[in-house]
Amino acid sequence: MGQPTRYRKSDGSRVSGGKSDTELPTRLVTGGRRREWTGAVVNPPVWRASTHLYDSVADLRAGKANNEDGRFFYGRRGSPTQWALAEALTGMEPGAHGTMLFPSGVAAIACALLAVLRPGDELLMADSSYDPTRSYAEAFLGKWGVETRYYDPLVGAGIAELICDRTRAILMESPGSLTFEVQDVPAICAVAKERGIATLLDNTWAASYFFRAIEHGVDIAILAGTKYIVGHSDVMLGSVTTHEKYWTRVRRTAQQLGQIVSPDDAYLALRGLRTLDVRMRQHQDGGLAVARWLADQPQVARVLHPALPDCPGHECWRRDFSGAAGLFSFVLNGGDDAAVGALIDDLALFGIGYSWGGYESLALPVDPTPDRTATRWEAEGPLVRLNIGLEAPDDLIADLAKGLERYEKAACRK
Ligand SMILES: Cc1ncc(COP(=O)(O)O)c(C=O)c1O
Repeated sequence: MGQPTRYRKSDGSRVSGGKSDTELPTRLVTGGRRREWTGAVVNPPVWRASTHLYDSVADLRAGKANNEDGRFFYGRRGSPTQWALAEALTGMEPGAHGTMLFPSGVAAIACALLAVLRPGDELLMADSSYDPTRSYAEAFLGKWGVETRYYDPLVGAGIAELICDRTRAILMESPGSLTFEVQDVPAICAVAKERGIATLLDNTWAASYFFRAIEHGVDIAILAGTKYIVGHSDVMLGSVTTHEKYWTRVRRTAQQLGQIVSPDDAYLALRGLRTLDVRMRQHQDGGLAVARWLADQPQVARVLHPALPDCPGHECWRRDFSGAAGLFSFVLNGGDDAAVGALIDDLALFGIGYSWGGYESLALPVDPTPDRTATRWEAEGPLVRLNIGLEAPDDLIADLAKGLERYEKAACRK
């Protein structure tokens, strides 16, 4: 769907500003905007198509013999709207070869794992992985003859001791879902590379913006584009961006599984991508302001934000990331479900919902306990995850301050 190609005018010559040696903010603006895809307008239009038409029978036959991406063939192979998005996403990961698109983040994870695993193999997965990723590994891959073992997300180079003859892939997610442990991705990848094991990273939190996965040694970088790439809470999307070594396998598997993203959704995702730079900087500033304020509140025991020293793996974040997204958690000092309800239910600016990365703030009570098998989740009280949107941080803080007062009253009543 998205072979990497340069940004060119319709006559094939390079367009200035779209070169691969430009900075990321520039690439977010120029990526995928080839003149033959956009025509005379700024954005690649929505190309809705199942049938692609040929000029002649000879043309049809030539098309069948040519297996290249980024050319008209059949609707399932996409059209310029999807190709433009795939190309722009590839451009975000220096060293990457290409990107396949999927109808959700989970579909992207599922396909990437299927592409590198065979029955009889073993998968190592971070214990702090997103819950549906674990369910997929256990329910689907398990039936298919792949065993999954979980590792402590802080294992680093110690992963070497967990690898056995059957280990074929390591799936990282950094920071971890709900608890935000930052992994030593380069150390894990170095060990895996020596043993010929594929490394996959769910890079959704950093959005390929704050962490360049392929450059840090990852073979396959996965995004739930549903979150920050789309950024407006209105599209489901996934992407798998790979190093050249894994490109053919991932591409073939995705095509065999019939994966395709609608051109309307690809269009909206491209539109989101163009403002990713300004949004991520604002999510970072807002997230840090709220996280630092929470860390000073007596009702809060700990704030799990990768940019704050209390967060496990904070040193890896400092070394490897260029910034922090707006999603983090905090642990309350005691209290029960009713007290957490008192905090969250009447927040004026925070919605209650699962998907994150949108422009609007969210608060969610979460419990990692049932999803841990290699490590134990221990905490002073309930855990709350916040998605900090693009509202003024002072307004969010004022809202949370009232919420913490309600929580305290409810907790004291017990
Ligand atoms: C870290 C992470 N990865 C993957 C996903 C799955 O994305 P989607 O909802 O698009 O399937 C999510 C969704 O919340 C997520 O938080």
